[in-house]
Amino acid sequence: MASSCSGSLLVLPFVISSTLLCFSVASNEFEVGGSKGWIVPPANDTNFFNDWASQNRFQAGDTIRFKYKKDSVMEVGEGDYTHCNATHPTLFSNNGNTVFKLNHSGTFYFISGASGHCEKGQKMIVRVMADESLSQHAKSSGHHVPVSPIGVSQMLYLQFVLTCVASYVV
Ligand SMILES: *[C@@H]1O[C@H](CO)[C@@H](O)[C@H](O)[C@H]1NC(C)=O
Ligand SMILES: *[C@@H]1O[C@H](CO)[C@@H](O)[C@H](O)[C@H]1NC(C)=O
Ligand SMILES: *[C@@H]1O[C@H](CO)[C@@H](O)[C@H](O)[C@H]1NC(C)=O
Repeated sequence: MASSCSGSLLVLPFVISSTLLCFSVASNEFEVGGSKGWIVPPANDTNFFNDWASQNRFQAGDTIRFKYKKDSVMEVGEGDYTHCNATHPTLFSNNGNTVFKLNHSGTFYFISGASGHCEKGQKMIVRVMADESLSQHAKSSGHHVPVSPIGVSQMLYLQFVLTCVASYVV
């Protein structure tokens, strides 16, 4: 029984690191605007995209997908977002299916590049949190956060070690 336990202990680091790797590459993709996509919002719902964005929880590494027809997506700075200034975007895409990676925490600003659309509310602010598995702040900020992946594997590891120790002792 002791030998089987030490044999498994050799494998364990691989199991743990692959588990962690698995969690750390896990990222979510969000479809902007849900089923409506990237559209000019209805006149009585001009805050549509910011409402949509604030209902979601974005983390660094997540991607957002814009689906649209005869339109475009621009990533811009804050001032250009506010004034719907489409003259010097950071990113411009009009292929109808734009995938944007939220590659860092912080704030991203998007507008439509189609004439007049941004003014009608086709614009969005996305706030991205740091990857919570790397951040301790999330726990102390009072938000409910699920047990972090590292916490889970530590528990599994502890349980495994205890099982092994127990089998030695018996
Ligand atoms: C906007 O108007 C439509 C149709 O009149 C209505 O169904 C919808 O609930 C309204 N949306 C908001 C946010 O008021
Ligand atoms: C848009 O931004 C450019 C560059 O900063 C500036 O020259 C231009 O006046 C702006 N246009 C509007 C309508 O604010
Ligand atoms: C995020 O992506 C942009 C555009 O590709 C790039 O300029 C920037 O350096 C990237 N930032 C990080 C933190 O990777």
